[in-house]
Amino acid sequence: THIVALVVAAGKGERVGGDLPKQYWKIGGKAVIAHAVDALAAHPAIAAVHVVIGAGQEELYSKAIGTRLLPAPVIGGASRRDSVLRGLAAIEGASHVLIHDAARPNLPGAVIDRLVEALEHHPGAIPGLPVADTLARGTDILGDVVPRDQLYRVQTPQAFQFDAIVAAHRAWPDDREATDDAQVARAAGHRVAIVPGDALLAKITFGEDIAVAEQRMAARMI
Ligand code: CTP
Ligand code: MG
Repeated sequence: THIVALVVAAGKGERVGGDLPKQYWKIGGKAVIAHAVDALAAHPAIAAVHVVIGAGQEELYSKAIGTRLLPAPVIGGASRRDSVLRGLAAIEGASHVLIHDAARPNLPGAVIDRLVEALEHHPGAIPGLPVADTLARGTDILGDVVPRDQLYRVQTPQAFQFDAIVAAHRAWPDDREATDDAQVARAAGHRVAIVPGDALLAKITFGEDIAVAEQRMAARMI
């Protein structure tokens, strides 16, 4: 097996706002993207970490990555799926790939362990967290409660047999949105295992998530 990681970092971070895309914000003196890359690169099962960056973000990227030795970054596209496709096209000789959001800087090695282990039995595997809160429908008035015993919050990295995810992405209609890669794999008929995720792995989506990620990072370092 030859397992590689693909970090997608070509987004604009519009929901966080500000001039600097969220993957280049610093947490504990280190860029968010560098935290994500380092967590993957440090894992013994991962042979290489490929990164997809936004057009015009080359300088931000090289500053954030510093002296780390990585393959040349690939330029991403307009949607996350475009960026994933471009990244996958630049990878050669991989048997498996872990596709990860740069916007998730806190990646525990134990989650990677579980994904890699699951790949021995399944074409795909994702980290999922059971939903703890009560879920209810509603507009501004409360509607029905939705049973949550079979609901998960889906995280990244998402792990796949390399050829399977490439073929699945090619088969996915270009005009259809895909919020993650696992649904693309599923649509192509692949069974995707759910392994336990981690609350630490939360994505930075809104401005307030940066402070939370910082606190979590600090708590891990104590
Ligand atoms: N991403 C990407 N290429 C895109 C869009 C998103 O590589 N065209 C990446 C982001 O950099 C991020 C991950 O996909 O690491 C998850 O996307 P999201 O959280 O939506 O990030 P952004 O698209 O940057 O944020 P927003 O949607 O708020 O603009
Ligand atoms: Mg987005």
